[in-house]
Amino acid sequence: MMRSWWSAGRQFSTHTISQPFTVPKPAFGSKSCNVTERILRNVGKNLHNNPKSPLGIIKLRIEDYFNRRFVDSNGKSEFQMFDSMNPVVSTKMCFDDLLIPIDHPGRNMTDTFYFDEKTLLRTHTSAHETELMRAGNLCFLATGDCYRRDEIDSRHYPVFHQTEAARIFKKSEVPEDFLLPDLKQCLEGLVADIFGDVETRWNPDSFPFTDPSLELEIMYNGSWMELLGCGVLRKDVLKNGNLHDHHGWAFGIGLERVAMALFDIPDIRLFHSSDERFTSQFTEGKIVKFRSFSKFPACYKDISFWVNPSFHENNFSELVRDTAGDLVETVKLVDEFKHPETGQVSKCYRINYRSFSRVLTNDEVDEIQDRVRERIEASPEMDLR
Ligand code: DAH
Repeated sequence: MMRSWWSAGRQFSTHTISQPFTVPKPAFGSKSCNVTERILRNVGKNLHNNPKSPLGIIKLRIEDYFNRRFVDSNGKSEFQMFDSMNPVVSTKMCFDDLLIPIDHPGRNMTDTFYFDEKTLLRTHTSAHETELMRAGNLCFLATGDCYRRDEIDSRHYPVFHQTEAARIFKKSEVPEDFLLPDLKQCLEGLVADIFGDVETRWNPDSFPFTDPSLELEIMYNGSWMELLGCGVLRKDVLKNGNLHDHHGWAFGIGLERVAMALFDIPDIRLFHSSDERFTSQFTEGKIVKFRSFSKFPACYKDISFWVNPSFHENNFSELVRDTAGDLVETVKLVDEFKHPETGQVSKCYRINYRSFSRVLTNDEVDEIQDRVRERIEASPEMDLR
């Protein structure tokens, strides 16, 4: 199926605002720094700004919906679009301004890439909310690359993309009870615009920066799929954005999830592939089904180690990803046991290596696996068995 939404021509130019940015030099090796050279290679790739990549196509599609739906009396789009904001942000922007409590797991070094105690790679595009409010924006979309330390499988990659949106009004313009229905209508319209006639359902959710908070799910290919989080902005978040007489709503949507569903893309690593068999399939403004090219064989390797209490699976995943790059497809815990006398815990993981573009030789995979083993050996959290 091919759907074109471009044919009528875009009625509005996107007021994309680009800002040049600099990335600080990380203090590699310091205790409060866990960004790696490999992860930093993703900064500046801006896949979301490539109109021919599935992520860029979805981003433009969302922007286009807002440009068409929210038009002021002069026929101009009410929304400002931002897509080039610095992914390096402060803990204030990413967490404090959004009322994310100090003990929230999302702040941990096991989950987030830090340059130092106060500087990190944004974990969500909500990190720009208060900054954009302080700059005088009331209606905006902010799209960008986000970073999280996570497990390794076909749906998780340490880099992903989000679009954040906010619509804020002076209190004198609309009553409080206008906000939630307006948010729901806007998002149901967005779903219909992107996915066509699908069933939707609203679930209560909880985010520190919105109240009430909701999650929107859609019925897609026979099952419920979580699409986005949203809610009515808390007064204190608006205050942090220097807005004292205002109220409004916000939402955040992950672009990979939407693109994987609409384009039928089976593995999140593919977005980062420069393989022509992938990139040549997409055209600006069109949603097409991805024709998968033949898969090269996978190569499994198991690895077992003792763990100490500070072990976190994300640290192990990051170690594997940092060593093997995109050649690692999945990392799965296959066995675990506790020594009956010492109480020590042992874990066995299966690492699945596979390349999209060639057959990996056993020797090559052994070499990567040896490097993984060496790094485990050097880690205070794990002890090879
Ligand atoms: N920032 C949230 C996340 O990454 C998503 C989100 C939820 C954004 C609710 C919002 C919101 O603006 O209102 O999980």
